[in-house]
Amino acid sequence: VKHLLGIKYLKEQDIQLIFETADHFKEVINRSIKKVPSLRDITIANVFFENSTRTKLSFELAEKRLSADVINFSAAQSSVKKGETLIDTVNNILSMKVDMVVMRHPNPGAGIFLSKHVKASIVNAGDGAHEHPTQALLDSYSIREKLGDVAGKKVVIVGDILHSRVALSNIFALKLQGAHVKVCGPKTLIPKYIESLGVEVETNLIKALNWCDVANMLRIQNERLDISYFPTTREYTQQYGVNKKILDSLDKEIVIMHPGPINRGVEITSDVADSKQSIILNQVENGVAIRMAVLYLLASKIK
Ligand code: CP
Repeated sequence: VKHLLGIKYLKEQDIQLIFETADHFKEVINRSIKKVPSLRDITIANVFFENSTRTKLSFELAEKRLSADVINFSAAQSSVKKGETLIDTVNNILSMKVDMVVMRHPNPGAGIFLSKHVKASIVNAGDGAHEHPTQALLDSYSIREKLGDVAGKKVVIVGDILHSRVALSNIFALKLQGAHVKVCGPKTLIPKYIESLGVEVETNLIKALNWCDVANMLRIQNERLDISYFPTTREYTQQYGVNKKILDSLDKEIVIMHPGPINRGVEITSDVADSKQSIILNQVENGVAIRMAVLYLLASKIK
């Protein structure tokens, strides 16, 4: 396949191949080799219809480290504002001889839709509350780096599961690799179908944290809340926020993750986010190697 649209479409061996390729690129980066010529004849457009810091910069850096030609499109400053459709926008970009499109879009399935209507290779950089495949890959890669393996590890994803593309992609990726997965949060922020994915629900934060090896903390997706979900931010923090006191009271030392952006003092306090148990910045670092691996492997299908 020449697209990465979601973890749902991957097999376990695809993930392992991406990790082995990322290992190679991480080693190259660590040797202070800033550029490899792998994608010298490839042009990539980063097409972002939603805000991003980590994903956008990480893809751009990965592309540049692979020597691809890169153009960046941000919907807010584009002719989308004048009424141009998604397909027209992307086809106009592709007519400039672009080979791959990395796209973030607020609508679930936008990448799948686009892949059926344009010729380029499509990489999903987050589609609404649906999937964020490269985030899940870098999350699992970071667990593997920290704990040696993902198989058999107990991972709890805490927070707004209902609106989170990170949660869904992580669940698919972790289950494929043989991890045990629980989700934890207020019932109103946990979708009804979640147990059908082989995931357990735990509404008590302390029980969930005492069970797990890894806690992946998510923020409340305020931009996707279109009705008033219980609880309020203050109630949420009281029941589901992780602070140092909670961390220190647990039976064992767990690994703390967060995809970012963090709302410090809401789902996680600074003394947890910045603690030695946190691998949040390692996740960001690993994002570049993972995205280099994904782009490299997809480009081999279109060359
Ligand atoms: N984790 C993540 O997707 O962050 P950005 O929204 O900043 O890209």
